[in-house]
Amino acid sequence: MKNKNLVSITDFTKAEYLRILELAAEFEKQPRQDILNSYVISTLFFEPSTRTRLSFETAINGLGGRVVGFSDSGATSASKGETLHDTIKMVSNYADLIVMRHPLEGSARLASEVSSVPVVNAGDGANQHPTQTLLDMYSILKTQGTLENLRIFMVGDLKYGRTVHSLLQAMSKFNTTFYFISPDELKMPPAYKLVLDEIGLNYYEGRDLNEFLDEADIIYMTRVQQERFTDPIEYERVKNAYILRREMLDGCKKTMKVLHPLPRVNEIHTDVDDSPHAYYFDQARNGVYTRMAILSAILGVK
Ligand code: CP
Repeated sequence: MKNKNLVSITDFTKAEYLRILELAAEFEKQPRQDILNSYVISTLFFEPSTRTRLSFETAINGLGGRVVGFSDSGATSASKGETLHDTIKMVSNYADLIVMRHPLEGSARLASEVSSVPVVNAGDGANQHPTQTLLDMYSILKTQGTLENLRIFMVGDLKYGRTVHSLLQAMSKFNTTFYFISPDELKMPPAYKLVLDEIGLNYYEGRDLNEFLDEADIIYMTRVQQERFTDPIEYERVKNAYILRREMLDGCKKTMKVLHPLPRVNEIHTDVDDSPHAYYFDQARNGVYTRMAILSAILGVK
């Protein structure tokens, strides 16, 4: 993985996913290691973030590296009209690796083509969020003991949800059965279902969250993302389509876990938070170890 870009989850192989998860487990056991002390990593966030930026920066600090970057592009020369091309050319003069979030789909691929240092996509529009996927996989592995042959429900905004797009592609390598639960307006795009068709994986599509929940190993809830809608009326129509409540989990497998990339708005009621099925805050903590693994693998120190 040394010097590779991580723009799409498909940039890594199944063996590379497993290596990242193995490293994440090592970092979880020993999260303070001075192995990035000669590296500068740039975190460029052109779109808001809490978890992704802070967990990357926590990971870098924990491994002794240094961070340069911004969390508000309004305070950079992008606001004077500097192009993404020129910004990336500049920053790759200053840093050994670039972590970038940007609202435009394809922006991370463009950055990787321009940059002289590796680029890690921290989310590009509705397209991909590969580092989220690796921490999701780490969370699934930790809670289920395996990645193979699981039943994963994906619920909510499957059209614009970059986390579910990346997760589907990665978990399709592990004989997953997917259940896509969404309003008609927010169905999983055909291109992603084609990935499953091509390898002969079964999936189910429906609108009713209560159906088949007892079969779930993982319920992956997602937020309906107001910022991706061009029509505010359409957003109002679907924004509260699914609200997971504690009593809905009564018949679920004991080992079933509820994941959510967060932030949540209304889609998981707070009465789920102290249920043994809730795992979303632990999932966010796993982001630090997984991002330590990604950075150290790409920088070639592990
Ligand atoms: N899961 C995630 O990407 O969260 P942030 O938007 O807070 O980074």
